[in-house]
Amino acid sequence: MNTVSILLLAFILSVTGLFVFIWSLRRNFFDHSPAASREIFSKGEIGQVDDPSATPEQRQALQDEMGHKTISAEDRQALSVELAERVEADRSTASVTFILLACSVFWLIVASTAGLISSIKLHEPEFLTQHAWMTFGRMRTLHLNAVAYGWAPMAAFGVAMWMLPRLLKTPLIGARYAITGGVLWNLGLVGGLTCIAMGITDGMEWLEMPWQVDILMVIGGALAAMPLIFTLQNRRAHHLYVSVWYMGAALFWFPILFLVGNLPAVHVGVEQATMNWWFGHNVLGLFYTPMALASVYYFLPKIIGQPISSYNLSLVGFWGLAFFYGQVGGHHLVGGPVPQWMVTLSIVQSMMMIIPVLAFSINQHYTMKGHFRTLIHSPTLRFIVLGGMMYTVSSIQGSFEALRSINTITHFTHFTVAHAHIGLYGFFTIVMFGAIYYVMPRVMSWEWPYPKLISLHFWLVVIGFAIYAIGLSIGGWLQGLAMLDPAKAFMESVFVTMPYLKSRSIGGGLMTLGHLVFAFHFVAMALRYGSRRIGPALFHQRSATRNVVEA
Ligand code: HEM
Ligand code: HEM
Repeated sequence: MNTVSILLLAFILSVTGLFVFIWSLRRNFFDHSPAASREIFSKGEIGQVDDPSATPEQRQALQDEMGHKTISAEDRQALSVELAERVEADRSTASVTFILLACSVFWLIVASTAGLISSIKLHEPEFLTQHAWMTFGRMRTLHLNAVAYGWAPMAAFGVAMWMLPRLLKTPLIGARYAITGGVLWNLGLVGGLTCIAMGITDGMEWLEMPWQVDILMVIGGALAAMPLIFTLQNRRAHHLYVSVWYMGAALFWFPILFLVGNLPAVHVGVEQATMNWWFGHNVLGLFYTPMALASVYYFLPKIIGQPISSYNLSLVGFWGLAFFYGQVGGHHLVGGPVPQWMVTLSIVQSMMMIIPVLAFSINQHYTMKGHFRTLIHSPTLRFIVLGGMMYTVSSIQGSFEALRSINTITHFTHFTVAHAHIGLYGFFTIVMFGAIYYVMPRVMSWEWPYPKLISLHFWLVVIGFAIYAIGLSIGGWLQGLAMLDPAKAFMESVFVTMPYLKSRSIGGGLMTLGHLVFAFHFVAMALRYGSRRIGPALFHQRSATRNVVEA
């Protein structure tokens, strides 16, 4: 079957799927009852805020903001049973979640350092050029691969391993598969990054690591997805909450994408470029995006103690994403030597993505409506809500960036890099920070030792990211206009970006500093500085503060 038929078939399937979905909604095939959105709450839990990273004072202020609701004796009984089960569930995931998250923090620091060095090189070309592996081409690629296959999947897998038993109401089954998978994955990544540093790559963006190394990662990724299957089989939850849909689909899509994308000697020429960007955008849209959305749909309602505003809208978001995202990759090839109908198809699908994106945005907005003041008191919520908002910004921006008229200006410029960071940093990474702040106290049965560092981390990365994204978007746009102006020499389009490239290094420096603060806090918690948590979620107390490493 040729590429034309495959893409056409995919498009017809998407549209048919969407109609089937609308029809099934009209026939009440989906759970209409608001009970589905309450699946993540126990009896009597709605109305009780829950932010494990908040101090007692912040928690009190958060509860005051949301109002006080008394729990009946019967509900309290049911709640304490469920809380005890959650403690069990948390225990079953503790080691695997901790290992994966520790790896993610390590790769975050490696990646940020490589990103900062690459950034400085763009305005100080003499900086660190002594060795080949330090040059821009390799350093930039090391940065991309360390975020794309180190920080991002390790954080997403770690958070997913913790969420699964909570959502399926049963302990995690098969944690050792995920640990083995994680080890293989990281070994593969170390091998892949070493090859990149030595200049050995497969020569395609996002698919640089040699395919021989990818074998380790394919096996590792497949093993890491095993607990999903085992735990799903043994679930005690009556309804699969929308986060399970997103995570389940993402953990199913990712190994397939990675395997197809890395098959050697199958795709050549134009087909190879097409497949490259089919992989490139699908890994963003069908892996990182659903993993982060699953987290927002779980953590946001849990923190404010209120179910999401519209459960059906969350399903529209899920199916819209599943139907439309698969074909958007062609928008990376606008103007390229590929069939124009294929690019047009991807532009149409990129615009269609506005439907699921708005479904999510409206849902988040209405869930938070009237409660925005809670952001003052909950450090975790700040990350989650800001990340959710950045999903809307990056995606709507992306839909318009796909249009030929806009892409002619932005393609080959720093504007694309700014968009990439609004998506993978402003949205995905910021959501993951929030999720990790929520998860770690439960995993470790320990408090974050220095709560003020959470705020410091937040403001450093938010200010740094704002400088990075706003400056580079302006610089990239001016660069694109200059490149299109026949009256201007090419070098003018380079010089115009200089102040913005320098501001990116300042913004990126602040982000990196924020990451160091986060990593320090993570290590301090792992070394058991601070105080112990006593009792299950919601009703926990703290033991006396300790400032020594536990023996
Ligand atoms: C409806 C949603 C989205 C659409 C239609 C979209 C569209 C686009 C377009 C048109 C480009 C530029 C292609 C080029 O000129 O080379 C791009 C690049 C990119 N987008 Fe998006 N985007 C969307 C959402 C996102 C999200 C949510 C993320 C992150 C999770 C993201 C991450 C990226 C990255 C990393 C790149 C740069 C890829 C590269 O060149 O290496 N996008 N996107
Ligand atoms: C978790 C944090 C980060 C994530 C997820 C991330 C993600 C990405 C992605 C997806 C790209 C490819 C963009 C494209 O090709 O269009 C990229 C490139 C880049 N990033 Fe990051 N990044 C992060 C942190 C940083 C930091 C802290 C800096 C420091 C300034 C930085 C600087 C760069 C640079 C210089 C490039 C290459 C741009 C180019 O080729 O012109 N990144 N990053």
